[in-house]
Amino acid sequence: MAAPFDLSQTDKLLTTTRTVRKRLDLTRPVPHAVLLECIEIATQAPTGGNVQQWRWLIVDDPDTKQGLADLYRRAYAPYIEAQKRAVEAVGRTDASTRNIIDSSTHLAEVLADVPALVIPCGLDRVSAAWSPGRLAGWFGSLLPAVWSFQLALRSRGLGSAWTTLHLEFEEEAAELLAIPPTVTQLALLPVAYYTGDDFKAGSRKPAQNVTYLNRWKQPIA
Ligand SMILES: Cc1cc2nc3c(=O)[nH]c(=O)nc-3n(C[C@H](O)[C@H](O)[C@H](O)COP(=O)(O)O)c2cc1C
Repeated sequence: MAAPFDLSQTDKLLTTTRTVRKRLDLTRPVPHAVLLECIEIATQAPTGGNVQQWRWLIVDDPDTKQGLADLYRRAYAPYIEAQKRAVEAVGRTDASTRNIIDSSTHLAEVLADVPALVIPCGLDRVSAAWSPGRLAGWFGSLLPAVWSFQLALRSRGLGSAWTTLHLEFEEEAAELLAIPPTVTQLALLPVAYYTGDDFKAGSRKPAQNVTYLNRWKQPIA
């Protein structure tokens, strides 16, 4: 039977949706309609019990973006210093490590100028006292939709980056955004049209190396 989709397109979408930082077009506005369309698509993601317990907060007010960017940078500074020390300690000087540091630093510097910052939220307060199963069910009912949102953006020529650093100061971000204390912020996604034409697949281990059959550590042929 023929595949129901054009696999060259769907596989390309799934393998080349990258974290976009340096190629975010800071000059081109992102219409609300496009973001709403992508959120509409994202809300088709699976959820435990079929309850869609999310809200999506789009931030494009310049002062509010600046406030979020300030929180992000406050968390980024000690994070990247620790990363650089760790990289030096093991003598990692490869281009890909340098690229991640450069592009992450770029994003931290320009965050306030990215046209839209999107914060997906869960309508409950996550608790460290929850069992691993409850935590998995809770996050598992929210995060697939966030990735769907990124895929929908990419299909339309927009790039995004999953970031979590501002969550070090989640309470301050909540205050800035009037998010009630009963809600958990999940991530902060800078969203913009991307510059350039295309993206490549990332470097990953082959599936056989990370898959077992029937028993832990039993390889699959
Ligand atoms: C849970 C999570 C948190 C992340 N947090 C950040 C972040 O705070 N800042 C950032 O620049 N990138 C962040 N990233 C992006 C990763 O650095 C990126 O996915 C990784 O380097 C692989 O690159 P790729 O997505 O292009 O394959 C995060 C990604 C995930 C999944």
